[in-house]
Amino acid sequence: MSQPETHDATGSATAEAISPNTVRLTFLPDNRTVEFEHGKLAHQDHGKPGSILDIALNFGIHLEHACGGNCACTTCHIVVKKGTELLSEMDDDEADRLDMAADLQLNSRLGCQAVIEKPGEVVIEIPAWNRNYVSESGD
Ligand code: FES
Repeated sequence: MSQPETHDATGSATAEAISPNTVRLTFLPDNRTVEFEHGKLAHQDHGKPGSILDIALNFGIHLEHACGGNCACTTCHIVVKKGTELLSEMDDDEADRLDMAADLQLNSRLGCQAVIEKPGEVVIEIPAWNRNYVSESGD
C-alpha cells in the first residue's frame, strides 16, 4: 500500500498540505494516518502527554505498552522515519532503557517518552517484532 499523496502544480508528488498547528502522524507498516490540532488531544494517562503512545491510544491504534508508559520496558519501541526534529529530546532514562531494546536503530525511540512538541508531519514504524497482531482487532 502506498501513502496518500497529491501532486502540486509542478507535477511532483507531495504529501497533502496540512494546516498550521496540525500534527499528522502516520503509523507504519499499517499506513494509518491520524491528524489533530497540536496540544488539543486528551491525555490518556499512558506515557508522557502528547507522546506517540498517548496519541496512538487516543485514536485506538494498538501500540504495546507493558509497563503502562513508565519508561520501564521496551515494548513501545518505535522507529522514527520522518519528523525527528518535531519530537522531544531523548532524556537519559529513555536512552538507558532503549539500550536494552532489541534491534536498536539510529532513530529508535520509546513511544511513551517521545513527545510531539511541534506541529507538522511525523512518520513512525512499529517494528515487526513489536506488533501484537492478536490484539489488533480487539482493544
Ligand atoms: Fe514501557 Fe514505554 S511502555 S517503556
